[in-house]
Amino acid sequence: MSSLLFHLYILLAILVLYNLYTLIAIFLLPVSSDFPTQTLGATPYEYLMFTQQWPKAVNKNSRLTKFTIHGLWPSNFSGKKLICTGTNFSKSKMPPELEEELNISWPDVERGRNWGFWEHEYNKHGTCSEDIFDQTKYFELANKMRKTLDIAQMLKKRKIVPVVAAIKKENQNKSPSIRCKERKGSAELLLVEVVVCYDHDGKEVIDCPDNRTCGSPNQSILYV
Ligand SMILES: *[C@@H]1O[C@H](CO)[C@@H](O)[C@H](O)[C@H]1NC(C)=O
Ligand SMILES: *[C@@H]1O[C@H](CO)[C@@H](O)[C@H](O)[C@H]1NC(C)=O
Ligand SMILES: *[C@@H]1O[C@H](CO)[C@@H](O)[C@H](O)[C@H]1NC(C)=O
Ligand SMILES: *[C@@H]1O[C@H](CO)[C@@H](O)[C@H](O)[C@H]1NC(C)=O
Ligand SMILES: *[C@@H]1O[C@H](CO)[C@@H](O)[C@H](O)[C@H]1NC(C)=O
Repeated sequence: MSSLLFHLYILLAILVLYNLYTLIAIFLLPVSSDFPTQTLGATPYEYLMFTQQWPKAVNKNSRLTKFTIHGLWPSNFSGKKLICTGTNFSKSKMPPELEEELNISWPDVERGRNWGFWEHEYNKHGTCSEDIFDQTKYFELANKMRKTLDIAQMLKKRKIVPVVAAIKKENQNKSPSIRCKERKGSAELLLVEVVVCYDHDGKEVIDCPDNRTCGSPNQSILYV
């Protein structure tokens, strides 16, 4: 065998092996590397509660005039409390662009300590859904839900009263859950929080199992 032919065979063999490797990498590696994360730190849950708050009802000195996120909570229909395990919050995993958006959509209205608020919410609730949404995806999802659910806009569009009916009409007729408090020295109710519920994967709005409302059905609820 001439030495040139020999070199050609070697080259051919390398090419064949390389292509085989690429094929294996494309078709097999993603499966085997995705698989273990499916069971990591999972706490089974059934649906997601997405809670927004009216800043001035939480802190009367707040100047914010948009509903902001309180939390995104993996929950069970039974109402049983979930104890989340999983990987705790890490500041270094937060992309700066997302941080900038969360500064607006998910601020700590009470104390102005956004990092502490995010860490608390993630460790207590977010780690339950770690196998579905990693830390970044979890915060991205909440931020995206906030963009979709502009409560103030929904109330304005439906002329505010009654609050629950207005939010329902803007959400495929799915029941939210709302929380209020009494305004000092009057019978008026102040809207504090609005909860909209999503299915397990955060894709579809569903009826909140706890479809609590405030006051009598037609009582006006203020957010001022
Ligand atoms: C929550 O629901 C999941 C799925 O139905 C179940 O496996 C889990 O045990 C429930 N957790 C609690 C605390 O009830
Ligand atoms: C995660 O953080 C919580 C408090 O936010 C703490 O109680 C818990 O021990 C931490 N878990 C781990 C594994 O560090
Ligand atoms: C987010 O807000 C904090 C102060 O509330 C600020 O220090 C930080 O730079 C902001 N982050 C971004 C990315 O804008
Ligand atoms: C609230 O939930 C209960 C029980 O799931 C249901 O029977 C009722 O119709 C709901 N109310 C509204 C206003 O959707
Ligand atoms: C509430 O308002 C609706 C429509 O405005 C009316 O049909 C209904 O009778 C009222 N219900 C009560 C309890 O006042």
